[in-house]
Amino acid sequence: MRRITNPREAAHALADGHLVGLPTETVYGLGGLAGSAEAVARIYAAKGRPADHPLIVHVCDAAAAWHWARKVPAAARQLADAYWPGPMTLVLERSPRAEDFITGMQDTVAIRVPSHPAMQQVLRELVRITGDEAIGIAAPSANRFGRVSPTTAQHVLDELDEVTTDDDLVLDGGASEVGVESTIVDCSTGEPILLRPGRVSAQDIEQATGMSVGTHSKVRAPGMLESHYAPRAKVVVTESTTTEPDEGTGAGTLNPTGPPTTGLLALAAITTPPGVVRLSAPETADDYARVLYSSLREADALHLHTILAIPPSPDGIGDAVIDRLQRAAAGN
Ligand code: TXA
Ligand code: MG
Repeated sequence: MRRITNPREAAHALADGHLVGLPTETVYGLGGLAGSAEAVARIYAAKGRPADHPLIVHVCDAAAAWHWARKVPAAARQLADAYWPGPMTLVLERSPRAEDFITGMQDTVAIRVPSHPAMQQVLRELVRITGDEAIGIAAPSANRFGRVSPTTAQHVLDELDEVTTDDDLVLDGGASEVGVESTIVDCSTGEPILLRPGRVSAQDIEQATGMSVGTHSKVRAPGMLESHYAPRAKVVVTESTTTEPDEGTGAGTLNPTGPPTTGLLALAAITTPPGVVRLSAPETADDYARVLYSSLREADALHLHTILAIPPSPDGIGDAVIDRLQRAAAGN
């Protein structure tokens, strides 16, 4: 995998059937042409992802998005008006464009219009090259299945360099601004249902649609229930540093004979106990989301045994941070 900075080069590589690690405002994706069975198969193989986990199709604007859907309910239009381009994915009944290899044989498709300027340039250039105004890029997060999502080009190389070819690329667009994956809203039934929390909150969805948001969907969202986003270190979600997380691990205590074994992930207002490594000290829930995945990676680079994570309050993006911490903790 070769690192580049030119979005046009990325678009040409995609058009030629290669895979490209792509920057988005949420996390980096591993992109391939959404209409190419071969490219999509290579994405699944590189990630080690089970075939029934469907992919998100990324397009340049809402008009392009609607080509992938059979029906567009009012709630979907209102959400698109409010939050596209941006960190939100809509699940809609699929049009014939969304083939089985994208949707995992489901009748629905997940679609997103990303706002990252480099990603927008890639999409616009692909439209120009192919002459297809609704051309889509299939892109799951660019990590091995079940691991922590990448928020920098270097993370993508760390995850996928060994399992991709020299013709595959990663487009360096800097660190992802949001830091956690897009909010997924199922609008296929006409009423918005939150499948994955993100920067766009349940309250934001209610405001845009004037409808209350459901949290239980008949739609299958594989990858949402099991453990995910897991570093090698054990993640312990706790409310304070004074509670002993796990007898026997030595977590939260001084390790006089060697390097520290425990890291702390918490808002800056919370002080670090002795013997514990501070992984990051975000001021707000938005900052917390931005540094979350790089902190989990840092803990592994330091060979820490345990990460104590004190979550932010559950408003706004705090809900998404708590969700990811719980899944990371379930992975141990
Ligand atoms: O922020 C993001 O959404 C990132 C960036 C790269 O866009 N992408 C991302 O993709 O997180 P991925 O594949 O790691 O997660 C997509 C989630 C999966 O849990 C998948 O099961 C769900 O979306 N999904 C995809 N299509 C679906 C569908 N038709 N119905 C329900 N869930 C779906
Ligand atoms: Mg993922």
